[in-house]
Amino acid sequence: MAEQDEDLAAAQRRHWQRTYDEHPGMYGAEPSAPAVYAAGVFAGAKTVLELGAGHGRDALFFARRGFVVHATDFSATGLAQLRKAAAGDERVHTHEHDVRDPLPLPDSSVDGVFAHMLLCMALTTPQIHTAVAEVRRVLVPGGTFVYTVRHTGDAHYGAGVAHGDDIFEHGGFAVHFFSRELVDALAEGWRLREVHPFSEGDLPRRLWRITMSTGT
Ligand SMILES: C[S@@+](CC[C@H](N)C(=O)[O-])C[C@H]1O[C@@H](n2cnc3c(N)ncnc32)[C@H](O)[C@@H]1O
Repeated sequence: MAEQDEDLAAAQRRHWQRTYDEHPGMYGAEPSAPAVYAAGVFAGAKTVLELGAGHGRDALFFARRGFVVHATDFSATGLAQLRKAAAGDERVHTHEHDVRDPLPLPDSSVDGVFAHMLLCMALTTPQIHTAVAEVRRVLVPGGTFVYTVRHTGDAHYGAGVAHGDDIFEHGGFAVHFFSRELVDALAEGWRLREVHPFSEGDLPRRLWRITMSTGT
């Protein structure tokens, strides 16, 4: 990894740790709209992996829906808040994990994967491709990946500190704004089921919710 990528990644990890320390439970207790959608898509599944789970509003929702949940994030602080809220629920498993590293799960071991605003963090295009290949490795044949990303139609695209590769830092948070070409390239070898535009928050953040499945 290039030194400047490593510096940015380490700085982002510190920033997220600090953010969760200063604002415990910052995303609230209710599930995100994409998680509610994903729970429907995952109907019949037993095991769900969530990447970038933060303090776990969505992981806890998936557990309430009866799924066994593996929740990953590189923020130990966020995951500690998740474990506290899970209050010993045996369906919830947390893994401190940087999505740039191989996933800590065996091949074909999860039925669904969910990632709300994780792939659009400070990741280079090659790192995003590697992460999606890892998602494919751990999914069962016919399993589904639902992910959301901010895209190049977002008001913050092009604003703030430019880090190259469509990554811009604003208010301390670095975001990789996705182009439609990147979405299509990541879907190669998958069945791309939907690219759904939506918005979230006051800005509002402009996002796509992507649903894609592996072959059976
Ligand atoms: C925008 S927040 C979304 C959190 C959660 N998905 C939600 O919607 O409540 C992005 C999350 O990704 C995590 N994150 C950012 N870069 C990461 C990386 N390289 N590896 C693992 N987690 C990362 C952050 O710690 C943060 O919890």
